Amino acid sequence: MSVIDEVKQRTDIVEVVSQYTSLAKAGRTLKALCPFHSEKHPSFFVYPEQQSWHCFGACNTGGDAFSFIMKKEGIDFGEALRLLAQRAGVTISTRPEREAEGKEKAKLYQINEAAAQYFHNLLVNSSAGEKVRNYVVSRGFSSKTISDFQLGFSPNSWEALKQYLLERDYTESELLEAGLVVEAEGGKTHDRFRNRLMFPISDNKGRTIGFGARVLDDSLPKYLNSPQTPIFDKSSSLYGINLAATAIRQQGVAVIVEGYMDVITAHQNGFNNVVASMGTSVTEKQVRTLKRLSKNIALALDADTAGDEAMLRCVGYENTLDAEVRVIILPRERDPDDVIKEDTKTWQNLLEEALPVVDYTFNMVTSKLDLATARDKSLAVDKLLPIIAEIKDSIRQDHYLTKLSKLTGTSYRRLETALTRIKPDRRAKGPKSEAVKRAVQPLRSSPLEEYCLALLLKHPELKDISQDLLPEYFENSENREIFIAWQQAGDLSSLKERLDTAIWEHLDSLITKSIPTNQIEQKCADCILRLREKFLRDREAKRAEALALEAEAGGTAAELAKLEEQGAEISAQLGEVFAQRSKQAQQGR
Ligand code: UTP
Ligand code: MN
Repeated sequence: MSVIDEVKQRTDIVEVVSQYTSLAKAGRTLKALCPFHSEKHPSFFVYPEQQSWHCFGACNTGGDAFSFIMKKEGIDFGEALRLLAQRAGVTISTRPEREAEGKEKAKLYQINEAAAQYFHNLLVNSSAGEKVRNYVVSRGFSSKTISDFQLGFSPNSWEALKQYLLERDYTESELLEAGLVVEAEGGKTHDRFRNRLMFPISDNKGRTIGFGARVLDDSLPKYLNSPQTPIFDKSSSLYGINLAATAIRQQGVAVIVEGYMDVITAHQNGFNNVVASMGTSVTEKQVRTLKRLSKNIALALDADTAGDEAMLRCVGYENTLDAEVRVIILPRERDPDDVIKEDTKTWQNLLEEALPVVDYTFNMVTSKLDLATARDKSLAVDKLLPIIAEIKDSIRQDHYLTKLSKLTGTSYRRLETALTRIKPDRRAKGPKSEAVKRAVQPLRSSPLEEYCLALLLKHPELKDISQDLLPEYFENSENREIFIAWQQAGDLSSLKERLDTAIWEHLDSLITKSIPTNQIEQKCADCILRLREKFLRDREAKRAEALALEAEAGGTAAELAKLEEQGAEISAQLGEVFAQRSKQAQQGR
């Protein structure tokens, strides 16, 4: 997660604004005397759900916590970020450090990429690569698969890769840092991966971050992996994510398997939404990565590993995703690679039969019990209630409580009471620091804003037609900052210069976003209109709410009239947007 997102998560706009003006509850919103201009009657509103603010008085403007602090303290985005970070207990490294860090990482991506190409070339073209070519063929991999996954061969040598990379001007210490060589006693270094089938591991942007490496026989360890490096953390990476992302997005579900081979066989057989956790059980970080692509995940689990503990963790992931996690239970002693190779229909069936994790746990627990007996009823409740307690979504929790009540013939109320007794001590687990205790705000993404920015960044020539696009259409402060800098800057590097380094990560993600290449102008114009419409609708909703509250509170005629007037203005502007959109639609035909 970027520092900006971290700060957002830990910042509550209500707390921030309360430091400057005293807020009073008004419906779903909070109201105050505007801290930016002097007034006798409150026209400043805070919206906790959207984490935004708006002043309907003299300012007639609004934004998020960042823009509030910027305006109030008269500081720029970077300074506001640092101020809020400090309050939230988030550390931000200083400028030079971050820059150096960025350069170091870029180098590591390069080295890994160079190594991947080296290994791949050896597998495909060298005579030494023959045995590994035979091996991959014996595993049923096609040449397209070998090339899609950039499979490779690390030769049986202590220094082949090292020499190759040193000749290409990488230094020994860079190779060490990338984990491609290891230091032996006496300080001499040698290649880490020797005589193995190489699986380059990529991040979701397609950058090579590390390797998995399999022996070609039955010797141990079966796999060697890159060590932890500044760009590789096995437990937060997902093998195959670079090739699976599109399919996951399109199909709306990600399937997580355990191994490299499982992913490759799945993709070769058309199951492109499959990624691997690489041996360990799935981590929260991996789930967060997938969440950006799809809310739904299905975990392929060994019948043996699908115990209570694993299920509890899965329910935790459901909370993270705010959606259901399904489990695919594999036949004993078989992995997806075996199943798919034998018969893709069997795999297809397993996918279709995948059960929501809680339902699966119900089946697992109750299949071993005789629910006609008092003892087993109580056992079922003991096992299942803690899992139900873990569910945050109250409707879903209720669903399973009812299910348990029906199954065991225990009254719903009794179960509910038992549930409230479980909950508190779960919460109490582990002391938390002040900063962490602060309510965690859900992160709001703005796909439309980001799509629009990605278009603009890739096509500077759009500057002409983006005259109508205003900074305030961007609700997200960092998007707004990037847009303003883009308007002023001539090219990408001067754009970057204008922005605080903390925004660079976000900028990079926008620049590398894949966007359509045809009919750019039309798409951009459409995007601008949609942003304008969203902006106006949002403003209108807020205004209508303010008006209702004002009328209820017996506001003065002048104030009510002012809000009415603003409403008429917004309607007129929205009318224009609709007219333009229908004109565009006709032209597009
Ligand atoms: P498996 O032992 O099931 O291997 O480990 P596999 O992928 O099915 O390989 P084949 O089919 O036997 O050739 C599953 C995953 O666990 C990780 C790897 O990511 C592997 O793909 N693993 C396993 C390691 O990282 N190190 C090991 O020593 C073993
Ligand atoms: Mn296997």
